[in-house]
Amino acid sequence: KVRVAVLISGRGSNMVALAEAARDPSFPAEIVLVLSNDPGAEGLARAAALGIPTRAIDHRSYPDRATFDAAIDMALREAGADLICLAGFMRILTDGFVERWAGRMLNIHPSLLPLFKGTHTHAQALAAGVRLHGCTVHFVVPELDAGPIVAQAAVPVHEGDDPDSLAARVIVQERRLYPKALALVAGRRARLDGGRVVIDDPPPDGVLV
Ligand code: GAR
Repeated sequence: KVRVAVLISGRGSNMVALAEAARDPSFPAEIVLVLSNDPGAEGLARAAALGIPTRAIDHRSYPDRATFDAAIDMALREAGADLICLAGFMRILTDGFVERWAGRMLNIHPSLLPLFKGTHTHAQALAAGVRLHGCTVHFVVPELDAGPIVAQAAVPVHEGDDPDSLAARVIVQERRLYPKALALVAGRRARLDGGRVVIDDPPPDGVLV
């Protein structure tokens, strides 16, 4: 099985979805580490309750991004991780770190990329007046929220939505999408080819939900 480390900063509900999917013996990946930059992250306790090894590496203890990223890299190597899933990890990683894990690091972003990069994606979607919104799993490249797309899920925007109501609709789809996308990548059915993701025998609901 592919050994996956999940990096979080908060609640960790995507991490729990990945961990629950990985309990299935036929799932091609196992979660070997949950790592947070915030020692108080709720997700760390949730991971521990699931029996998953956890680490907290507090970014505030490091003088700069490069030394913080080196500490994360060390922890990932100690855990024998093959692949990283960013799941609500709210630190920008250095180009050096991203390049070291090129093709081996996924992120979930709460919008239909390439729309609404960065933060406050639900407010951005409401301000733009889109009728469809959603989430994207993509490979991580140095440019923020710009890597090759593995899978997306869409939700409607309703009259009267506010960022919280929209976020609540999107997160349900995130928890469905991320395990499917991870299964495609870990099972080597999704691979990078010329800056795009090529999927062998795509499942009808695994790429666009
Ligand atoms: C998710 O909505 C995820 O897409 C988003 O943070 C939330 C984490 O929730 N990630 C980003 O905004 C990354 N820039 P969770 O901790 O419950 O998985």
